[in-house]
Amino acid sequence: MSDFSELPSDVIAAVIGDPITHSKSPIMHNSWLKKAGIEGKYTAIHVRPEELRAFAKVVRDSNMRGFNATLPHKEALIELCDELDDDAAAIGAVNTVSNIDGMLIGSNTDAFGFIQNIKNQHPDFDFTSGPVLLIGAGGAAKAVLYGLLQEGVSEIFLTNRTREKAEASAKLDKHIHVVDWEKRDEYVDKAGLIVNTTSLGMAGKPVLELNLDGITPQTLVSDIVYAPLETALLREATEKGAHTATGVGMLIEQGRKSFHHWFGVWPEPDQKLEDQLLELSS
Ligand code: ATR
Repeated sequence: MSDFSELPSDVIAAVIGDPITHSKSPIMHNSWLKKAGIEGKYTAIHVRPEELRAFAKVVRDSNMRGFNATLPHKEALIELCDELDDDAAAIGAVNTVSNIDGMLIGSNTDAFGFIQNIKNQHPDFDFTSGPVLLIGAGGAAKAVLYGLLQEGVSEIFLTNRTREKAEASAKLDKHIHVVDWEKRDEYVDKAGLIVNTTSLGMAGKPVLELNLDGITPQTLVSDIVYAPLETALLREATEKGAHTATGVGMLIEQGRKSFHHWFGVWPEPDQKLEDQLLELSS
């Protein structure tokens, strides 16, 4: 077990996870640090669940401004942080921790990332215009659900292979209705927005099977999978004349908000960085 005492002093932010090898966050944040003229670096650190408390202690006593957390730490950090912001408390998961003079403040920027990415790609999309078909009920889905409810979505049809997980999420709000996994196709023509939050469609995984015959040119189909950038779901939606929102922007937007929490500045949009992230994902 690591005691993290060897952490270089120039590390001012990090991403932790188990495993952590595939994280794109260091490339993103180091590029933003450089552009903002902030000295220090952002690094990926392998932290196992049993090491999380020790890591949090090291951060409290360090120069680090904070860290991002990915699987499997997002829920455990709810208990370990000294304070939570409203988003983290409502979602029940922390993806961003800020170190304010030894106090650890937990936030969640995933909901912001999801919503902002859609707003960037479709500025005119009206979240209140119709029901949403939300596919999946894992950790990512919880943040997406929260973001959608914040935007005033009137009705959400939630479907998940494991129905109990969808039912647990549906208890959070009266606007969420659970739909049988086998009956998901029947809700395509009712939805103004269709969102895939499962890992289906990711490179190396099976595709998400969804019959899109019912979609209209007004339907927006969004996928949080970004490797490949154009999933089979998005390709078919485009072929049927619907609008689509790709997933890499969610990664970038959640990261921009984390960066803002730590350093007080918003990184500028950067096409070169986006291209680089996509190249690394393909
Ligand atoms: P994340 O935090 O990234 O959302 P997760 O919590 O493991 O990851 O959730 C993964 C989601 O993908 C879940 O909704 C999962 O469905 P189950 O709850 O039934 O596991 C969904 N998923 C993964 N593989 C799937 C498959 N082969 N078929 C259907 N759904 C799948």
